[in-house]
Amino acid sequence: MESKSYYKIIDLFGNEDIKLIEKKANNPNLFNNYDAFLDKFDVKKTTDDCYTPKEVMDIILNYVNDKYPLEKKQIIRPFFPGGDYKNIDYTYNSVVIDNPPFSIITNICKYYIERNIKFFLFCPHLTAFSSNIDATHIIASADITYENNATIKTAFVSNLFNNIKIIGDANLHLKFKELQQKNKVNLPKYEYPEHIVTVSKVAYCVEKGINIEFDKKDLKHYRCMDSQKKHGKALFGSGFIASNKAAAAQAAAQAAAQAAAQAAVNKRDNVIVWQLSQKEKEIIKSLG
Ligand SMILES: C[S@@+](CC[C@H](N)C(=O)[O-])C[C@H]1O[C@@H](n2cnc3c(N)ncnc32)[C@H](O)[C@@H]1O
Repeated sequence: MESKSYYKIIDLFGNEDIKLIEKKANNPNLFNNYDAFLDKFDVKKTTDDCYTPKEVMDIILNYVNDKYPLEKKQIIRPFFPGGDYKNIDYTYNSVVIDNPPFSIITNICKYYIERNIKFFLFCPHLTAFSSNIDATHIIASADITYENNATIKTAFVSNLFNNIKIIGDANLHLKFKELQQKNKVNLPKYEYPEHIVTVSKVAYCVEKGINIEFDKKDLKHYRCMDSQKKHGKALFGSGFIASNKAAAAQAAAQAAAQAAAQAAVNKRDNVIVWQLSQKEKEIIKSLG
């Protein structure tokens, strides 16, 4: 019995062409259902679910192209749901550039190395050196935010670099750092009124050394402010709507936390803040 599977061929600009392959159901290496595949592991590998944003792929395509010109190559991305990297007709001209499931990265590399199929693959940073394979490890200390919003320090592994065993690439690091910063700048920051209590607000206080408590009678569980509804937004992780008394307590705690944070910065930077005396405060009162 045969079923359908797909892989992608891309060009240097990230344009995709989807190819159909037939796969035999009795091959134990094939996975029709990715969830079923993940369930084979004792611990579900969430990094296997991380999909790569286009800007990240562009950085990698440009990087590889600089070192190993891709112009006349067929760039293949075999790894996506229902894919089967062993069931693709790779040619001498193919280069696999993709983010594979990290849980089977060593097997994938071995498979390509044994068949002399060229590859440049994403891999986990911390365990980048854990397999003894004949490949080059590219370390860029790259914090990559994937489509599911998980930020994972990522390294790369490749057989495009002949005798080089490890490349620590500061330029590549910078490219990813710039991308992270650009994406951060574009992210809106949400600010909530004093009458909304979120876990982040409580956390901010305790991190700055300020205790805070609310009585049950002063809070009502709340998921979404009316002003958020038309934007399809909600309180992240939910929160509470607060009585006037609780809102005032929250405002006071936030102000104390901000003052503590400022005092810490002043101490660090050796800033001396001159205080008004009682006499000076009286003068101020008498003015205007
Ligand atoms: C980390 S995700 C990355 C997806 C995509 N390559 C990307 O960069 O956005 C890994 C993907 O590999 C797929 N996968 C799992 N086992 C596979 C296999 N044997 N052959 C091909 N793809 C597989 C999963 O379904 C998953 O979509």
